[in-house]
Amino acid sequence: MKLCQIVGARPQFIKYYPVSAAIEKVNREAPGAIHDVLIHTGQHYDYDMSKVFFDELGIREPDHHLEAGSGLHGQQTADILIKTEAVLKEEKPDIVIVYGDTNSTLGGALAAAKLNIPVAHVEAGLRSFNRSMPEEINRILTDRISHRLFCPSMTAMGHLEREGFQICDNGRPERTEEPCALFTGDVMADVFIHAGQIAASRPSVLESLDAEPGRFALLTLHRAENTDDPGRFSKIQEFINQMAEDIPVVFPVHPRVQNRLKEQLGGFHNNVRTIQPAGYFSLLQLLGACAFVLTDSGGLQKEAFWARKPCITLRDETEWVETVDAGWNVLWTHFTTLDALPKKQAAPYGDGHAAEKIVRYLLS
Ligand code: UD1
Repeated sequence: MKLCQIVGARPQFIKYYPVSAAIEKVNREAPGAIHDVLIHTGQHYDYDMSKVFFDELGIREPDHHLEAGSGLHGQQTADILIKTEAVLKEEKPDIVIVYGDTNSTLGGALAAAKLNIPVAHVEAGLRSFNRSMPEEINRILTDRISHRLFCPSMTAMGHLEREGFQICDNGRPERTEEPCALFTGDVMADVFIHAGQIAASRPSVLESLDAEPGRFALLTLHRAENTDDPGRFSKIQEFINQMAEDIPVVFPVHPRVQNRLKEQLGGFHNNVRTIQPAGYFSLLQLLGACAFVLTDSGGLQKEAFWARKPCITLRDETEWVETVDAGWNVLWTHFTTLDALPKKQAAPYGDGHAAEKIVRYLLS
């Protein structure tokens, strides 16, 4: 079986990692069973946003680098579509795998679907029900043209069932030719377990930050709906500055926010310590040592949940509703105090073997 896997943005490098490891495992047992071609769209290109993840996780060099880069949404998605189409015509894979909800996901899926190559979508079925988010548009459209939809949660399965997709409970769809949704669990849970152990064994990033374990909050902020609307950005900044009155806040800054900060007059409280975007292991160390998390990232909401750190989500809704139901996550619009969170035990995102299930389903 020949696969083409398409990645391009920071979280996709992390999601690709366990799937590539599961493929390597299959190939060790049955050499040559899966030919895996890796395509990097180039949506993220700074060292801190791309290569550091390849280096840290030991991901091999992509077979194709499309160098699509930044741009307006239409322009970026179109560039990825055109360049991916050319590669897929040359590679002729049996199936294309796309991850998550970025412009690389949609551009890649569309290129494959137009060439009649089946698409497998990892992290399918998520919905925020907020169509002003570019990611929501990317998710809905990618799901609609995918053939196999691998869901990280039962909530995601429910969304796809309501949208009319065939639901597959046991790994074998009744109507194999038709699109089908399968619960696999979350591939990020697979990586979190593995990478968490490596991160713990590496020199601590805390020393260089002058941050004391348990006595700082970890902040990330990069969503377009937060950073590109000056009024909303100011409100979030005010909320963060209030937090920073009581506790230092460590803030690895996404390039989107760096651009915004240059224009912003007010700025952040002195207690907000801005640093370069963190690599994956550094981020996991910061997570492990912080008192709580402030974020608009989907990935970090779940990582905080797995690390059992309370999380305040800087959005008006979340796709990861299970973390809120379990009492570890709260939307900033509903926040009163961290002590009010009920913090129940729950494991809604599978057993840490999502990638193996995905590869097994594809092979069968
Ligand atoms: C993208 C995804 C988002 C994901 C995020 C992870 C879309 C629509 N959004 O958002 O879902 O959570 O990646 O980080 O695909 N830039 C750089 N260097 C880089 C990359 C970007 O400076 O390596 C700057 C550029 O000014 C660029 C801006 O960041 O215009 C935004 O980058 P872009 O890839 O469009 O979206 P993200 O905000 O990173």
